Amino acid sequence: MRLHVAEHPLITHKLTVLRDKNTPSSVFRSLATELVTLLAYEATRDVRVEKVDIETPVTTTTGVMLSQPRPLVVPILRAGLGMLDGMVTLLPSAEVGFLGMVRDEETLQPSTYAERLPEDLTGRQCYVLDPMLATGGSLIAAIDFLFARGATDVTCVCLLGAPEGVAAVEKATLGANVTLVLGALDERLNEHGYIVPGLGDAGDRLYGTV
Ligand code: URA
Repeated sequence: MRLHVAEHPLITHKLTVLRDKNTPSSVFRSLATELVTLLAYEATRDVRVEKVDIETPVTTTTGVMLSQPRPLVVPILRAGLGMLDGMVTLLPSAEVGFLGMVRDEETLQPSTYAERLPEDLTGRQCYVLDPMLATGGSLIAAIDFLFARGATDVTCVCLLGAPEGVAAVEKATLGANVTLVLGALDERLNEHGYIVPGLGDAGDRLYGTV
């Protein structure tokens, strides 16, 4: 697994506003979108391209364009939906699939309650969106799901990660082609499975649930 923790003052600034408990959902949503666009730039560093010959108004030249099959973006419902706009802003030609995962608040174990993904992911570069990498349970289940459909190249984009979650994903994906892009690596998980200092429940913050 490759781990990339973003280091950029704009990312840290936007994350600081997201973390603030007084930031309202409307601001939270638009900042999350901006933040993901910045993270998407990093996450797509290895997106596959192929050479193409084109004509400019002045001459012919060789450039690159995204290869087929198109990348697949997979937001994990519900909170990952808040990251979708930011990602497809940079990858407008990507296909979007959905994976609904829920974790039991007591056992913290994830289960899949919905999926809408292509049957065959052979050769697809997959970008999983999940704002909070806490225990890693949902993300590992999502990666396993994509691998079971033939994916071999998975990049996960998270706003925040806990060291426990990063270690769990690393252990579960040994030898696999998995990249983790984080906005920040936080201190730890608390006894309720929340990231500390974190930003609280990302789904609640995005959608104003009280
Ligand atoms: N999920 C969240 O939304 N927040 C956390 O801190 C951990 C998991």
